[in-house]
Amino acid sequence: MLKLVFRVSVSLAVWSGSEWLNLWLLDLDVAQDSGRLLSQEELALYNGEEDSKGLYLAILGQVFDVEKGRKHYGPDGGYRFFTGRDASSAFVTGDFTEAGLTDDVSDLSPSQIVALYDWLAFYQKDYTRIGKLIGRFYSESGKPTDVLKQVEASLAQGLKQKAQAEKENELYPACNSEWRSDRGGRVWCSIKSGGVHRDWAGVPRMLFSPGSGQARCVCVRLDDRTQSNNPNLQQYKDCPPQAESCLLSHD
Ligand code: HEM
Repeated sequence: MLKLVFRVSVSLAVWSGSEWLNLWLLDLDVAQDSGRLLSQEELALYNGEEDSKGLYLAILGQVFDVEKGRKHYGPDGGYRFFTGRDASSAFVTGDFTEAGLTDDVSDLSPSQIVALYDWLAFYQKDYTRIGKLIGRFYSESGKPTDVLKQVEASLAQGLKQKAQAEKENELYPACNSEWRSDRGGRVWCSIKSGGVHRDWAGVPRMLFSPGSGQARCVCVRLDDRTQSNNPNLQQYKDCPPQAESCLLSHD
């Protein structure tokens, strides 16, 4: 039951941003009330090697029994290095070297922290939670550390950015694009481009994100003044203003 509440809250958090975040973290705290407190040495006894007591892994300080996934985590599994420790960082960096298999997530961006919580939600859903690991994310009494609170703040920021990006993609759906060796790049708009199903196609424009100097191709409705008058929009060179398709020049 608890798991169900957790899962529903996660998906809502992802879709609706920060309002749901508090609810989600509340669920997380409730879930954290039960279970064992393990030291790193104790967790290491569950690393799948000879005489191992089982297969446990930790992510963001939460310990899961992954025996059910022995084909992945057992001695012959492709992800055996995750067992017996908390290698949170590697879940998003994909760096499976000893240096990369760390619970230090301080270098991760807010969007990477969102991806890390997606993994946590996956373990909550598919595996049994054993308890909490004493260390970077939980104190000896099982209380969240300041590090965990910072990670949660980064999560909140990441969810907010994600919601903003989704909103922007609705307003300015991305263009289709292709590259051909005979004529180079082309961008064009259609009623499904950017994965946004709509009853208008729009025309391609470069949308610059202030500060970064980077631009992406978006589809703009010319009949919507508030949309098309955005000062961060720019026409493609040598492409008529009304054209639904533009060839990209090389300069
Ligand atoms: C950041 C990079 C990656 C991480 C952290 C990661 C992690 C994982 C984990 C933890 C599992 C086991 C899931 C479970 O418990 O059921 C898994 C399964 C799997 N992964 Fe990855 N993976 C990564 C990249 C990749 C890539 C690039 C590929 C393919 C080219 C891949 C292919 C697979 C496959 C085929 C499975 C098994 C699915 C199944 O049999 O159920 N993974 N991955």
